[in-house]
This record gives sequence, C-alpha cells and structure tokens, in this order.
Amino acid sequence: MPEKILEIDEVTLRFGGVTALDGVSFHITVGEILGLIGPNGAGKTTCFNVMTGVYQPTSGSVRFEGEPLGRRKRHEITRLGIARTFQNIRLFPEMTAVENVMVGADARHHTSVVGALVRSRRHRQEEQEGREKAMELLRFMGIDSRAGDAARNLPYGYQRRLEIARALATGPKLLCLDEPAAGFNPNEKAELLELIRKIRDQGYTVLLIEHDMRLVMGVTDRIVVLEFGRKIAEGSPSEIRENPAVIAAYLGVPEDAA
Ligand SMILES: Nc1ncnc2c1ncn2[C@@H]1O[C@H](COP(=O)(O)OP(=O)(O)OP(=O)(O)O)[C@@H](O)[C@H]1O
Ligand SMILES: [Mg+2]
Repeated sequence: MPEKILEIDEVTLRFGGVTALDGVSFHITVGEILGLIGPNGAGKTTCFNVMTGVYQPTSGSVRFEGEPLGRRKRHEITRLGIARTFQNIRLFPEMTAVENVMVGADARHHTSVVGALVRSRRHRQEEQEGREKAMELLRFMGIDSRAGDAARNLPYGYQRRLEIARALATGPKLLCLDEPAAGFNPNEKAELLELIRKIRDQGYTVLLIEHDMRLVMGVTDRIVVLEFGRKIAEGSPSEIRENPAVIAAYLGVPEDAA
C-alpha cells in the first residue's frame, strides 16, 4: 500500500449557518498530484484552511504523516511540511522577488532576514546561503531574471510563480496550490502544468485546486470533487470525466467552455 501523507477524516466546518465542509474524508498519497475540484463555494479553499491551521474543524480530524494536526498553529504546520499558495496572491509587494522567497525559508529556520543583515558574520553567511538557495528556486520556477525587482512590479504570471517559489522555500513535503493558473492564458497554463509536473518529479506531493478541467485532467493522478461542502466523487481523471454526479455538478458545460 502506498503511504498516505495526509488524511482528512470526516471533517465538518460550520461558519454560523453555512456548512462549508460537511463530513469530508479523503487522503493524499505520497508522491501524487491530487486534484481538488468543484464549483464556486464548494469548500476547496476551506479544505486548505483546515489543513494549514487557519481554521479548526467543527468536528473530524486531519492527520499529517499519521499525526493528528490537533490545534497546531499555522507556523507549526509549515514546519511539519505543509506549504500552500493563496487564491489571491499574497506577496510582500515592496520586497524583491528573492527576498520574498527568503522570507519563505525563514518560516523554517529561526533566523530572520532583517536580523541576518545586522548581526554576526555567521548570520551574514547564512543570509548569503539563503539568498543562493532562493535564487535556485527562482531559477527552477523560471523567474530568476527578475530576482531583484519588487514583487509588485512583476508581471502577474511571475507573481503567481513567485508564490510557488516562496512556498517551496519552506521545505515542504506537501505543496498545496490554490488555483495557481487563475487568470492565465492557454500558453501560460501549459507552462504551469509542466512546472507542476517538474515539482512533483523533484519528490514533492502536490494538492492542486484548479478550475480549468483540461489542466486538472492533464496533470493529476487522482481527483476529489466537492459540491456544497460534500465530497461527491473521487477517482482517476477518466473516472471523474465520466462520473454522472460530476457531470451534473461541474461539467454540465462542454469541456471547451469550462
Ligand atoms: N471565513 C468564512 N466565514 C464565513 N463563511 C465562509 C468563510 N470562508 C468560507 N466561507 C463559506 O464557505 C463556503 C466554501 O467556501 P470556499 O472558499 O472554501 O469555496 P471554494 O470551493 O474555494 O470556492 P471558489 O472556487 O469560489 O474559490 C462558501 O459558502 C463560503 O462563503
Ligand atoms: Mg477557493
């Protein structure tokens, strides 16, 4: 049996009268790319929020590498090895691209970028190594040519990829991407798909929220489908493509129009 890196067990999350997640269970296997799809408001981002300690489930539990996350805080979960990107880009706009990635690495270590600049030589050396590692990640993501530019001055597609670089800098085992290709044209989407494969091939496990069916079907090993906070299907891309409940909920329009 392949190892489960993350298990979501009967998770329910209510916000007042809204049941954002309703008894949702699924797992992610080490080394796979799992797609998480569903119509707007289905509970996909809420799933990320529960997995990363932003919200505590009303009931149910999440286990990472067999350990219940319990009431662990966000930074503790980052250190355990879960990293995420946000549906709405959240970079430090005035900091350069490379500094944004170094901040990601700081989430793992105890040294801070600012501290490293003013403290001992050892700290300065660590800062230099951190900068080199951050540059490597920018190269990996194909955005190193703009390493010294403030994040706010980067083209939109670069900002999206910078978010992924920053998440990778935390040294995760599980990388969760919340609509990383939102607003991309078809070429940019195809490039991102390649990058996500490359990331997986480097040994990361990937959880991908994505609305573009072609992208999801092309890159994922398995797909979980949510609708109104409930899991309505789970299976291989070809199983999901043919699942009547999914077609009704989500693929009710021809794939080209999705
Ligand atoms: N902090 C919150 N307070 C109240 N309701 C919330 C909160 N966060 C999410 N919800 C509600 O929970 C439901 C699920 O939202 P969620 O953002 O997880 O959907 P989603 O699947 O990510 O949708 P989208 O595709 O539009 O991003 C929605 O009805 C949403 O309004
Ligand atoms: Mg969302």
